[in-house]
Amino acid sequence: MRTQVVIIGAGPAGLLFGQLLQKQGIENVILEQRSGEYVLSRVRAGLIEEGTVRLLERAGVGQRLHREGLVHEGIEISFGGGRHRIDFRKLTGKAITIYGQTEITRDLMEARSVTGAPTFYEAPAVSLHDTSSERPRVRYRKDTLEAEIECDFIAGCDGFHGISRRTVPEAAIRTYERVHPFGWLGILSETPPVSPELIYVNHERGFALCSMRSQTRSRLYLQCRVDDNIEDWPDERFWGELKLRLDPSAAAAVVTGPAIEKSIAPLRSFVAEPIRFGRLFLAGDAAHIVPPTGAKGLNLAASDVYYLSQAFAEFYEAKSTGGLDTYSDRALARVWQAERFSWWMTRLLHCFPEDSGFDQKVQRAELEFLARSVSAQATLAENYVGLPY
Ligand code: APR
Ligand code: PHB
Repeated sequence: MRTQVVIIGAGPAGLLFGQLLQKQGIENVILEQRSGEYVLSRVRAGLIEEGTVRLLERAGVGQRLHREGLVHEGIEISFGGGRHRIDFRKLTGKAITIYGQTEITRDLMEARSVTGAPTFYEAPAVSLHDTSSERPRVRYRKDTLEAEIECDFIAGCDGFHGISRRTVPEAAIRTYERVHPFGWLGILSETPPVSPELIYVNHERGFALCSMRSQTRSRLYLQCRVDDNIEDWPDERFWGELKLRLDPSAAAAVVTGPAIEKSIAPLRSFVAEPIRFGRLFLAGDAAHIVPPTGAKGLNLAASDVYYLSQAFAEFYEAKSTGGLDTYSDRALARVWQAERFSWWMTRLLHCFPEDSGFDQKVQRAELEFLARSVSAQATLAENYVGLPY
């Protein structure tokens, strides 16, 4: 088999990239190791920047997003028993949209099936070959058989644990990593949101976040220990702890109910550099991870594949390798901005086990400065709503 681009991974990065290539008339095949149902069962973040909304519209999947997505013009930061609103609309003219990553994935899968472009599910890529040549190949497994696809380019959109990044020789790649000393315990529940806008909570018992998926569905997170297990957190303990970390009026507004999903995720900052190796390009979580505090993971996957789709259009339409040559630097410049912001939000809002009394006082001073300084709020808002493309 032969195609122009083999995309490894049918997460948001791979599916959005495939859809952008379809729009440009560039033939592509997606290989995904899991089933479509499994991919859709993963509960992930759900906050999208305006730039990402525009890109999803361009990919032809903006309709349901506009119908069902919740447009938010600000967030609240809670500490010391009070809440402080950051008004994105006033400070930046922009808003963000809450729309679950699972829903974006579903929309992209449907759009792809309409185009008839091939996606092979339960078909893991097992090895990449000749990635420095003009005819790279990907070997993959389907059932008990192995097969090979020849292509012009390979897009490694196979997430943090995928094989694409791992096939790069160690001498050709540098990685930067920080694993944070806590995790996020997240639940989804069929209960109304605690408040109309997201509340990010700094509390001596640990960080908390009240988010949502709809007017009837909450997505809530608590900072927990990295070595905590789900069994340590029965629903009653979760709700009790959440109320302890919220200010009194938010705590009084909590409606409890059974968790329909519960998981613990470690917090990690990670960047690989470069993210282009001959004819292999990494995008999304395969290339970088941000802690979720800045809500940038999905948006970075989108910006990567936007730059990459532009580069491929230039290559096939204008026979220019300019975009391919600058992809890594262009995408990573944006990634580092998001790494910086995500780290800053994480540092501002969490309890760090190793913090001294001095560190805790400085953290509180920073929160108080944010609460009264319009320019500090504007800086947060500008980063949160995202950079223009
Ligand atoms: N062959 C085929 N598919 C693979 C392989 C392989 N060898 N290894 C991994 N995959 C698949 C995974 O099963 C997964 O479906 O690649 C996909 C990667 O998807 P994601 O992990 O969702 O990564 P990405 O598309 O980059 O999305 C980034 O997801 O983790 C969140 O916060 C992150 O929102 C961001 C988004
Ligand atoms: C979510 O709704 O899942 C969410 C929102 C904001 C974040 C992280 C996660 O910073």
